[in-house]
Amino acid sequence: MSERPICLGYVGAGFLAQSVHLPHFAALPGCRLLALAEVRRDLGEQVAARHGIRRLYPDHHALVADPEIDAVAVSAPYALQGEIARDCLVAGKHVFMEKPLAVSVAQAERILAAARASGARLMVAMMKRYDPGNELAHAIVADWRRTGAAGPLTYVRAHNFAGDWIAGLDVPLARSSEPPPPAPTVENLPDWLPPERGPSYVNYLQQYVHNLDLLRFLLDAGDRARVRHADLDPDGHTGVVTLEIDGVRCLFETGNLWYHRLDDHTQVYFERGWVRTLAPPPLLRNQVAEVEVYQCHPDGVPGLPGVHHTLSHPQPEPRWAWPYKREAEHFLECLRTGAPFRSPGEDALTDVRLFEEIYRTWLQR
Ligand SMILES: NC(=O)c1ccc[n+]([C@@H]2O[C@H](COP(=O)([O-])OP(=O)(O)OC[C@H]3O[C@@H](n4cnc5c(N)ncnc54)[C@H](O)[C@@H]3O)[C@@H](O)[C@H]2O)c1
Repeated sequence: MSERPICLGYVGAGFLAQSVHLPHFAALPGCRLLALAEVRRDLGEQVAARHGIRRLYPDHHALVADPEIDAVAVSAPYALQGEIARDCLVAGKHVFMEKPLAVSVAQAERILAAARASGARLMVAMMKRYDPGNELAHAIVADWRRTGAAGPLTYVRAHNFAGDWIAGLDVPLARSSEPPPPAPTVENLPDWLPPERGPSYVNYLQQYVHNLDLLRFLLDAGDRARVRHADLDPDGHTGVVTLEIDGVRCLFETGNLWYHRLDDHTQVYFERGWVRTLAPPPLLRNQVAEVEVYQCHPDGVPGLPGVHHTLSHPQPEPRWAWPYKREAEHFLECLRTGAPFRSPGEDALTDVRLFEEIYRTWLQR
């Protein structure tokens, strides 16, 4: 694969595809955006024409039958995109899929089994992991844990009350006169979940999966994560969850706020300092997370007589970048080189498990 461009097919020409992913995959070097699959014909025609995509298929089954396609990118309704990803993996196509991987552990395991069986690779687009600000926060946290420069890691707080995540993005959107196809949500939900809780569960999962994933990323936790306590409002959305991630207590606050930006931040506390990362509205192009670092220096700061405390805002590099574009580049690069994905499907299973645990813990109180 290293010598020729990767031939990509895209499934689902909806909001996120048009706003974010298709413009990237159409322009990135080393990628030939060969085909689009969209069940709503009128929408598919408009979007394929806009991006000069010559092959338009009526659904993902037709697209994966195209032998020239190496890899598929998918953005479709929450429970449906996992089923689409599974069919693509069964057909031996590498997959880049939007979050969430699945709406239940059982569905996630079926998707991952398909990847194992065919040998095709699966990446879940957890875009916070590709934000240079979060990369910088991750590097500082890892360094302080390794060197003990700020004492032991004591606590983590993640907070997401959302806000205006679209931030005025003005990409013109093609629309369809046809209704969207039904999504197989109920049949893929956890079997223990009361049916009336299905909608709030899926909404909670799909919105906040980014935050739990970021917590695991910042702490290099992998699957070392569990839920200790969950206290949600009857809406199944607003509340506080206590987790233990890589042995560290993490508090996770969720809610909704009418706010002109995004109220989404994560703070990692050590005995003598903190690292805080503040997310930009995700659709605000070319913005990265702001990083704040506080440190107490008991022996003073070399070169600054009498100074024992520093508060800084180190600027990540690249300073201007769009995490969505970087994750698309990463996918293509890993396919070319064989390097592991930073957000592989197997790792995303842990997020799905944690969301089941949160709701189970809350409902069984
Ligand atoms: N990472 C982020 O920040 C972020 C932001 C928004 C949405 N998302 C994710 O993106 C996904 C898609 O969201 P959206 O708002 O673009 O949805 P959407 O409903 O606007 O688009 C999905 C499209 O898929 C098409 N489709 C359905 N089944 C198909 C099939 N079998 N073959 C071909 N096309 C098919 C539908 O007709 C629709 O046009 C969601 O799962 C969501 O979680 C992620």
